[in-house]
Amino acid sequence: MRGHLETIETLDELASIAHGCTECSLAESRTNVVFGSGSPTTDVMIVGEAPGQQEDVEGLPFVGRSGRLLDKLLGEVDLDRGDVYIANVVKCRPPSNRDPRPDEIDSCKGYLRRQIELIDPKVVLTLGNFSMKLLLNTTTGITRMRGTAYEWWGRFLVPTFHPAAALRGGDRVTNDIRADLSLVRNIIDGNVVYTDER
Ligand code: URA
Repeated sequence: MRGHLETIETLDELASIAHGCTECSLAESRTNVVFGSGSPTTDVMIVGEAPGQQEDVEGLPFVGRSGRLLDKLLGEVDLDRGDVYIANVVKCRPPSNRDPRPDEIDSCKGYLRRQIELIDPKVVLTLGNFSMKLLLNTTTGITRMRGTAYEWWGRFLVPTFHPAAALRGGDRVTNDIRADLSLVRNIIDGNVVYTDER
């Protein structure tokens, strides 16, 4: 048993528990646990869905095609992946890149929760439906939810499309991600208050 993740006091200790995790069946097919990477003291944490093939091989998040697009779009708002922290909802690759299953998300969510608490970012940028639905506890889709900075447990949460959707969907989706990244840039520069009206 991995014990109570909420009592773990450092990111390194949390990572080492994750690296030995066998809480769900993804442990059997993974090559590497993709815990997360970047600055542990950043204002900006980015949360994707699950590792793909390249991430599974390298043990690092967003190192494939989606990651290259993410790096480019971050660069446009003067952010580098070393300046932010990048993690996923699920830390092990689902076979054949299928969607993570609810039981897998459930087994893994304690790691993400504690990562966010330990990093304590000013803004969480979620990529795609899985991370947004989990963290905002909503069933509404990303197309309706994006474009807004939500108040979330004393921080900002900005949901945007997954870069894989931009690779499929072209300029419209890419430009929406750009607009959401500008919101993140404004937040870390101290220029934005919450834009949701709930
Ligand atoms: N897609 C994700 O959601 N996460 C990764 O790490 C890579 C691709």
